[in-house]
Amino acid sequence: MGRAESTLFRGPTYYPGSKAPTHLLFGLILFSLATALSFLFLHASPFRLGLDLGHQPAEAWALGLADHCKDVQPIPESEFLERQHKLAQALHQLSASAYIAEPGASAQFFGNISGASWTLSERPLLLIVSPVIQGDQLVPKVTVLVPYFEETRAKQLRIPGAGVTYAPWKEDEDPFIIGAKSIFLSTGSRIYVDGMIRHFIVDGLQNAAPGTDVGLAPPEITSLRSRKSPTELALLQCANEVTLLAIRAVQKQMYIGIRESQVRDLMDHALTIAGIENRWALVLFGENAALPHGSGSDRELGASDFALIDTGGTLFGYNSDVTRTFMLPDSKLSGEHRELWFAVHTAQTAALDAAKAGVVTASVDKAARSVLAARGLGPYFTHRLGHG
Ligand SMILES: *[C@@H]1O[C@H](CO)[C@@H](O)[C@H](O)[C@H]1NC(C)=O
Repeated sequence: MGRAESTLFRGPTYYPGSKAPTHLLFGLILFSLATALSFLFLHASPFRLGLDLGHQPAEAWALGLADHCKDVQPIPESEFLERQHKLAQALHQLSASAYIAEPGASAQFFGNISGASWTLSERPLLLIVSPVIQGDQLVPKVTVLVPYFEETRAKQLRIPGAGVTYAPWKEDEDPFIIGAKSIFLSTGSRIYVDGMIRHFIVDGLQNAAPGTDVGLAPPEITSLRSRKSPTELALLQCANEVTLLAIRAVQKQMYIGIRESQVRDLMDHALTIAGIENRWALVLFGENAALPHGSGSDRELGASDFALIDTGGTLFGYNSDVTRTFMLPDSKLSGEHRELWFAVHTAQTAALDAAKAGVVTASVDKAARSVLAARGLGPYFTHRLGHG
């Protein structure tokens, strides 16, 4: 947390100048507001470059990004154990026998099994956590239900826990019966599943344990992951800061006539140097930018176009997601477009002022929304503010 640049997301701000076209840009600007935290400053340095990613060393312009998150730590084993412990306690209090998740955000949170480390297939691999009493202590029992022939690979996953056990199921067996056997089920007991689990798994578990109620995990469980620890906040903060810095670095390499795909390559390079994994980038120019989550047409950047970059990736499993809409020093945008940009900027400032500890997220959305509604732009604010 100490590495926060307190002014990073607030400024400096680049104000667009001069001339350009269409009202489609409403969409672009309003969407940008939804994920943006502030706008970019731009110095003129339009030089062209050809990157051969993966073969060439880091480009000089991106080198400064390498250090930004170097002191940020991944989640330590002790924190995983604490999460499992709290989960066991919550399950016990809810009189539940187990919590079950597939590889993904929740399995990563409780068991370090990300969707990237284990791709979902038709053969279930499940993280099962049960509360068990050992002596006078309540402890989490962690079981991994795994296809038999993939057991060795599953054991290479770094799953924290003192006594993690593996329950292999063979091709001619019902995985859910094997899974249910690993859980101590009393009559009328309950199993909670993660909200992202696939339907055939819930059905399979329910059929394998007819006397048990298989249902979605309640807030007592989901809140364990939604309340962030200091380690998690530091990861989220640094991932998002360095993504913003990467956009700024890329912006300085852009010029009128550059293609969307070239900027996407620059973004990937910058995020790679920054240590960000699972990278993605939407780069959209002009009317393409008016389609939220658009895929673009490899268009060239015209003098009268806004450029939109919506990008992110992960740092030790924690995501960044930053959107910026900007122009270049040589751009010539219309007065109408500049007005729209400033309307969004004003709305964004109102949202930043409203975003304080203790307020509900809806009030932050409302702060931005009312600024735009007062200017008659309300109907164009389609993406909610943020991702909460
Ligand atoms: C979690 O898994 C990652 C690999 O996906 C590994 O690098 C990391 O050390 C693991 N964490 C713990 C605490 O074992």
